[in-house]
Amino acid sequence: MRLFLMVKYALVNLPPIFLERMQTLLAAEFSAFLEAMHESRINSLRVNTPKLEPVGAQKLLEGALGVPLQEISWCNSGFYLSHTAKAGSHPLHAAGAYYIQEASAMAAAELLLGDWGGEWLQTHFPRVLDLCAAPGGKASHLAQLLQNKSGGTGFLVCNEIVAPRAKILAENLERLGLPALITNEDPARLAQAWGAYFDAILLDAPCSGEGMFRKDPNAALEWTPVLPALCARRQHDILEWAAQLLRPGGRMVYSTCTFTLEENETALEEFLQRHPEFELLHPPTPPEWGFVRGFGALQAGFRLMPHHLKGEGHFMALLHKKDGEAHDPKLEEPTPLERPMQKLWKEFESQFEPKIEQYSLLASVFKGEIQTFDPQTPSLERLKVVRLGTPLAEIKTGGKTNRLEPHHALSHFYQTNPVPTLTLEPIDPRLAAYLRGETLELEEGSGALEGWVLVQTFGLNLGWGKAVKGVLKNHYPKYLRHNS
Ligand SMILES: C[S@@+](CC[C@H](N)C(=O)[O-])C[C@H]1O[C@@H](n2cnc3c(N)ncnc32)[C@H](O)[C@@H]1O
Repeated sequence: MRLFLMVKYALVNLPPIFLERMQTLLAAEFSAFLEAMHESRINSLRVNTPKLEPVGAQKLLEGALGVPLQEISWCNSGFYLSHTAKAGSHPLHAAGAYYIQEASAMAAAELLLGDWGGEWLQTHFPRVLDLCAAPGGKASHLAQLLQNKSGGTGFLVCNEIVAPRAKILAENLERLGLPALITNEDPARLAQAWGAYFDAILLDAPCSGEGMFRKDPNAALEWTPVLPALCARRQHDILEWAAQLLRPGGRMVYSTCTFTLEENETALEEFLQRHPEFELLHPPTPPEWGFVRGFGALQAGFRLMPHHLKGEGHFMALLHKKDGEAHDPKLEEPTPLERPMQKLWKEFESQFEPKIEQYSLLASVFKGEIQTFDPQTPSLERLKVVRLGTPLAEIKTGGKTNRLEPHHALSHFYQTNPVPTLTLEPIDPRLAAYLRGETLELEEGSGALEGWVLVQTFGLNLGWGKAVKGVLKNHYPKYLRHNS
């Protein structure tokens, strides 16, 4: 066996101590696991359902990406696709048609709010928190499930402790056109500020990342034998804060992308001992997740294992808070527009029709912008806030008059376009030119276009342009532009 293992180390570059621990954990299944870890990585994406309906999207994406898409059984918006597809650089990615997400990672949001456990959420205005949200894979999945479930009345808070990662999270939600409050906080400070306010929490914990070794060889290089114990200590603390943020009757998914007992079953066994007000739930779930083998004493955790399904390694469990006290924190007030700005906003609303009321949202001034604001927002006093919601307009000051310009995020937020549209077909070289930030020549016949224009492809908005005398000035943000 030792010789066999050494050959495998060389091939897949897995840390020997990790392999020894996995052998102890998996016993007879170890060789199947090792085989799977040696197979090539699997690509997948999740369709952004507020923009595209999954069945139609499958055909559209197969045509556009030039590869077949294969359904993922536990996520009706998830699809496998071949490595040859350049999904990340395709204009449809820029248009927010999908999020490139690992297949097993699609299980956690489904367990909390989707077909595999989410039927419980009957609250009219559900409040959902993603406590460790960047870069936003599971957060955007929660946002789309919540929109379906609550008819747009749900309130999603996405938190990320690391500031640059919180910025990436904001950009991803913006691309997908999904509204959420984004904070950049330590979970301890959120628990102290808000208490038991949320109906549902996703705790996708920072972990030793062993389940990602096949997908990301760097994860294996960064791993050390002491990492799981360090992560377990951090997970212990975050679980405590998450428990404080959940209302009685609420549900929480705890997930990691690692294999160790101490970060998964043991972490939860110890949590349940400290918190008798919580219990584990085990709703009917896809057979592929059914790797509940009684690791430790925990009987209701899900182990998604690469030798049992087409996906990477994940762990998750669904917790229910049986009792305790709910807390209704003081709510934040939107910052009203000053008098002269009110008039500008009225004009902006009639020209650009953001129609935020259909999601029960208001508008508030925030950091030089007008952003969507959810009346369920708890007090943000002394908290680091990245975004209140979706930015709708930029407040341009200077000179004698102030003005409002449509924000890039608004172009992705629209469900239907209220302003003139320039459609660029995939074969039109101006499509790539627009994404590079270049000025476009308008064809004869689009001469009627003047002023703000939404540029779209495949029926989805990419961003803004401004038509002036037969040319389109490019307003695609610099930070998104594709390199020439
Ligand atoms: C597994 S990743 C989250 C992935 C994300 N849920 C997604 O699906 O895209 C864990 C996140 O926790 C953050 N994190 C690290 N230390 C933390 C801490 N002490 N408290 C809360 N979050 C932390 C990391 O920066 C990282 O973004």
